[in-house]
Amino acid sequence: MSNSRQKLNIVILAAGKGTRMHSQKPKVLHKLAGSPLLSHVIRCAEQLAPQKIIVVYGFGGETVPQAFTNKEITWVQQADQLGTGHAMQQTIPHLDVDAVTLILLGDVPLVNPEACEKLLEQAQGALHLMSVKKSDPSGYGRIVRDENGGVLAIVEHKDATKVQRTIDEVNTGIMAVPNALLISWLQQLSNDNAQREYYLTDIVSMAVRDGVPVCAEVTDDEWDVTGVNSKQDLATLERIYQRRQAERLLAQGVSLADPARIDVRGELMAGRDVEIDVGCIFEGKVTLADTVKVGAYCVLKDVSVGSGTVIAPFSHLEQAEVAADCRIGPYARLRPGTTLQQEVHIGNFVELKNSQVAEGSKINHLSYVGDTDVGKQVNIGAGTITCNYDGTNKYRTVIGDQAFIGSNSQLVAPVKVGEGATIGAGSTITRDAPANQLTVARGRQVSIAGWKRPQKKSP
Ligand code: UD1
Ligand code: MG
Repeated sequence: MSNSRQKLNIVILAAGKGTRMHSQKPKVLHKLAGSPLLSHVIRCAEQLAPQKIIVVYGFGGETVPQAFTNKEITWVQQADQLGTGHAMQQTIPHLDVDAVTLILLGDVPLVNPEACEKLLEQAQGALHLMSVKKSDPSGYGRIVRDENGGVLAIVEHKDATKVQRTIDEVNTGIMAVPNALLISWLQQLSNDNAQREYYLTDIVSMAVRDGVPVCAEVTDDEWDVTGVNSKQDLATLERIYQRRQAERLLAQGVSLADPARIDVRGELMAGRDVEIDVGCIFEGKVTLADTVKVGAYCVLKDVSVGSGTVIAPFSHLEQAEVAADCRIGPYARLRPGTTLQQEVHIGNFVELKNSQVAEGSKINHLSYVGDTDVGKQVNIGAGTITCNYDGTNKYRTVIGDQAFIGSNSQLVAPVKVGEGATIGAGSTITRDAPANQLTVARGRQVSIAGWKRPQKKSP
């Protein structure tokens, strides 16, 4: 973001167990919108373009770093969780002395990069922290100010006096501190307090003692600084996150049948006049071009859809590319590697996998098409199956332009159906079918005159 700013280190505290999650999994690996809590915080950190991102991990051991091997992160282990100050002490060898450190918490997933940027702009030579007003401040560190509003200290709930406990301004845990000062203060921490923990928050009174300016900025967005402590918190923040996604889409002109009934677990990009009915889930990277309609209860994961395409209810699409003006579903399934060109129709109970379907072709009912190249203007009748797997290997089926596959046919791959070929209904095709001919491969129909049904034998 800002390039006038001084060198930046970001530390994300993520060693805690999260007792109230009642889970074997470390808290920061629980998912919000389909990705770990910690990944949301890392994404915020990345947007601030720091020199270094340091994550302190502990509970859950290596499972935490292992979940982020694709990220450029300095991992610091805190074997015993002796407090936030102790966690920060572990990072000292990795801090750049001439930098400012922004401290974030791994369990505050909606942390806002713009608010962090603002905090950093004001942090030059000062300790700058983000606070928030809580109607119920219980459990949090209170911001203690003097009569002129100057910050004096943060007092943790368990150490606070009765009067201090009435303070409704609390520490969010997010702060920015110049490293030279931070390092010296961290080295002076003690655990002489109610919880026998090393409190990071004690650096505030040290700053005041040393005459270093301390500023606490009250944020007006409570959700941006809300931490996850329980499954209830996680569910609440999930809804907040999803509501924000819905509002973003509405603001861009997307029509949502109900903004409370859409889930975006990744990145959804939508063009103009896109319509999305209730209950749809978008995962990974999904792109919907102009005027796409997505019917109720569809799941789309890593999919791109061309303009004018209509996806009818209960369809499931994964790693597929769909061109313009197609009609899909209801109840269609496009599996990975499926590409549909323009004006393709895929109907109910049709499954496609690793197949390319060219312009204007139709597969409308109850079919399985796997590892297949389908040409243009092909019609595949109801109940057609490509037998692509012999139990050991997979083979391709190639169907030429304008071919017509009669209903209830099996195409045993590897096999080719020529251009303009017609396959009689109920055929089992094991050899290539020539172009422009009718190929039938089924028992001939016979009628036996004079045939009688068996009579019941008398006992
Ligand atoms: C902390 C703050 C408190 C603030 C509150 C906001 C301190 C002493 N208190 O309290 O002022 O109002 O957050 O939610 O800092 N962590 C570690 N190692 C540890 C302990 C904690 O990495 O040894 C991490 C946790 O994983 C978590 C964060 O630090 O991400 C905060 O820890 P938590 O135990 O929730 O601190 P609180 O007591 O809630
Ligand atoms: Mg906490």
